[in-house]
Amino acid sequence: MSDRSTMPTRIVAGTAHPGLAAAVAAVLGLRPAPCDVERFPDGELRPVVHGVQGGDVYVVQPTGPAVDDHLVELLLLVDACRRAGAGAVTAVVPYFGYARQDRRGRAGQAVGARVALGALASAGADRLVVVEPHTVALEAMSPVPVEMLTAVPLLADGLAELTPDEAVLVAPDLGAVKPAEHYARLLGRPVAVVRKTRLSGESVHAEELVGDVAGRPAVIVDDMISTGGTIEAAVRVLLAHGAAPDIAVAAAHGPLVEAAWDRLGRLPIRCLLVTDTLPAGGARAVPLRVRSVGPLIADAVARLHHGRSLEALLMRG
Ligand code: R5P
Repeated sequence: MSDRSTMPTRIVAGTAHPGLAAAVAAVLGLRPAPCDVERFPDGELRPVVHGVQGGDVYVVQPTGPAVDDHLVELLLLVDACRRAGAGAVTAVVPYFGYARQDRRGRAGQAVGARVALGALASAGADRLVVVEPHTVALEAMSPVPVEMLTAVPLLADGLAELTPDEAVLVAPDLGAVKPAEHYARLLGRPVAVVRKTRLSGESVHAEELVGDVAGRPAVIVDDMISTGGTIEAAVRVLLAHGAAPDIAVAAAHGPLVEAAWDRLGRLPIRCLLVTDTLPAGGARAVPLRVRSVGPLIADAVARLHHGRSLEALLMRG
């Protein structure tokens, strides 16, 4: 990795989560570079960036709801930085929308993750920094390097405070097993796994459980909560297998759609722990705790800028 430390660092904040961009900049002792995102009356976006010439730029923009608007804005911001004479341009996408479309679930679908990654590379991004993407396959699909930061240590710290030592960690589907094992190593707790089948965007089916949860509190760990369908199905399986009605949920990302709060509010969930990769919104029918990934991202930016290894910050394979 080359030492770029003689170049100034610039943080550019898109409109998806300016608070997080400001937090990253503050840890680095910076202020976000001025940036306006104008719109034509018909809705077309037109961002304008200032003060990025000759600097290495980190554009901070999670592509959560409204996913398509935020993705297009990110593409335009990257292009604007490139054309304004920035040095290296890194897209910092704490929540990477479209990561769930990493393969065709059925004939006739697109591979949305590859399309989004290709578009970012063509817009001029030299590198991507993401946090706990739904799939590590992003790296293989991306034309430019992708740094996948882990939020598990941050969330595990929160779980150590919020949940009892005897709680079982629960992966709500097979895709969540590896991160659940990472939590288990950090917290020294056992893991159980729910077998889930997705029926549609909003509904999933789950019945089987591998592991022993009888009489014990449980902590469901997942990469994201959207409709809450996966969590609801996992809670029902846990209760059916005798888990105590004292369940916590931890997820890196909370793109919670409005209906998710109703769904989660009807379940015996003591708290929901997420990070701030996306702005917190919604009716909050369940106690919500948020841990900031600002310092993690700032650390990654500083390491990239000074050519130091990111190894300690990355997801485990
Ligand atoms: C799916 O495989 C993901 O890891 C999450 O479990 C899922 O996207 C959560 O979505 P929802 O809350 O809509 O079930």
